Amino acid sequence: MDWQPMADKVGAEVRGVDLATINGEDLYALKQLVYDRGVVVLRDQSLSPEEHIALAERWGGIDINNYFPLQDEYPQIAIVRKAADQQTNIGGAWHTDHSYDQVPAMGSILVARTLPPSGGDTHFAHMGAAYDSLSDDLKAEIEGLQAFHTADHVYKADGIYAHTDIGKDLRGHDVKTGAFHPVVIRHPQTGRKLLYVNGSFTIHFVGKTREESLPLLQRLLDAALTADNQCKVVWRPGTVAIWDNRTTWHNAMNDYHGYAREMHRITLSGDALAA
Ligand code: SIN
Repeated sequence: MDWQPMADKVGAEVRGVDLATINGEDLYALKQLVYDRGVVVLRDQSLSPEEHIALAERWGGIDINNYFPLQDEYPQIAIVRKAADQQTNIGGAWHTDHSYDQVPAMGSILVARTLPPSGGDTHFAHMGAAYDSLSDDLKAEIEGLQAFHTADHVYKADGIYAHTDIGKDLRGHDVKTGAFHPVVIRHPQTGRKLLYVNGSFTIHFVGKTREESLPLLQRLLDAALTADNQCKVVWRPGTVAIWDNRTTWHNAMNDYHGYAREMHRITLSGDALAA
């Protein structure tokens, strides 16, 4: 397997791999690359829905998202769609998926199905590099802290998405979520220290109210995004990206109004997180 970095600290573009058949040592090597670089991109794949599902099962299992529309025929596959006449996209802010679950999904395999003529890139930021870049004082301040995460305010019947034109497409308005995680986790496979808070789902630190938590949370969110810990996936027909939710945040650009974009996402099962 041959790969090139997408940026200094994050991302890898892989060549010489057919995701429809990858297995054994090659699959192991691809997993290690995802855990380490946070996101990998593979071009010119032609994954059928069945091959997409089979790859996720070989990887380690599927964690079905509570909220996104699912394919009728293949309910393991979530549809991330913005129609040409819609204004709001799914995932258009920095976040990590499923941090509101006590055992968060490991990551996702996202397959490009319909793309706008330009735009619709997905940006990624590396949370190991983000942690490393914090000052020693800030690292000491967050050592041992835990935070509470939920998605209720985003997806409930009168939540953030309900006030947008994609609200009607989403499911799970009555689902209740809530999870406690260390603010600094060790990656379950690599052992690397990672900053594990995000602006979409992290609500407060344990022992503090939302208001008391906001100043420190905002400092962490600001510090987590540095120019040199980011890369972007520019999608082309046949592109597949696989990312690690523990290692990265991501943010889907919403800069293609008037055009449809449809991606098929399978979310991969993860592990409980520890400091
Ligand atoms: C997401 O999973 O947050 C959406 C990613 C994308 O559409 O690029």
